Amino acid sequence: MKVYFLGHATFKLETGNCRILIDPFFTGNPQTNASADEQTGIDYILITHGHSDHIGDCVSIARREKAMVIANFEICNYLSSKGLEKVHPLHLGGKHKFDFGKVKMTPAIHGSGIFEDNKIIYGGNPGGFLIEAEQVKFYHAGDTGLTVEMQLLQEENINLAALPIGGNFVMDVEDAFRAVKIFKPQQVIPIHYDTFPVIKADPQKFKQLVEGIGVKCAIMKSGDMIEI
Ligand code: NI
Ligand code: MN
Repeated sequence: MKVYFLGHATFKLETGNCRILIDPFFTGNPQTNASADEQTGIDYILITHGHSDHIGDCVSIARREKAMVIANFEICNYLSSKGLEKVHPLHLGGKHKFDFGKVKMTPAIHGSGIFEDNKIIYGGNPGGFLIEAEQVKFYHAGDTGLTVEMQLLQEENINLAALPIGGNFVMDVEDAFRAVKIFKPQQVIPIHYDTFPVIKADPQKFKQLVEGIGVKCAIMKSGDMIEI
C-alpha cells in the first residue's frame, strides 16, 4: 500500500488497482501542494466527519470521478442530497469488505456538524478509519481527543497510524504520545497541526517521544509517500 500525505489530514492511498482519498481538503488548505483538479482515477473517498477541513472537495471530486464515498450514515445522506449516487454508509464499530480491502469505522471524540448557508446540518458521530488491504493496516484517527476507545486498537497490530497532534480541537503532542503507548502501531505520522495558528505543534518533539519507545515516526510534507 502506498500512502501519500497531502497536507493537514488529507491522504491518498494506492492499493492494488484502487485509489482512495481520505478527507480530501484541497481548496483553501494552506498546507497542501495538490489540487482537487489533479485528483484523477479516484475510486473511493473516505470522510471521517462533517467539518469543512475534512469534507473539503468531496462533492466535486466524487461527482467528477464517479467515486464511491464511504462515511457515516448521516454524512452519506447529506452527500446523496447533493446528488452523489455512490455512497456507502458505515457507522462506529462497523466494518465492510470493499473490493480493495476492509474498512472499519472507529470512534472519535469530536464533533461532526456540517456548516452550510449559515446553518449547521447534523453530521452524525465523528470517526476514524481502520483500513486493511494487502495484508497491512493503516489507521486514520480522524479528529479526536485521547480516548480509552483506543485500547481496542491494541489487538489490531496497526502498521501505520496517522494521529492528530495539533491540540485545541484534537490531541496535542503529549496526548498523541499517550495514544501511541496505548495501541503501539509500528509507525506513526503526525497530522492536523500547523495548518492554522491555533493548532501549532512540534512534530520533532512527537518523533523524539515515540522513537523513545521504539515506534517509527515519519514527519511528512504534502506530496510525500511511504509504502507499507
Ligand atoms: Ni474536525
Ligand atoms: Mn479538523
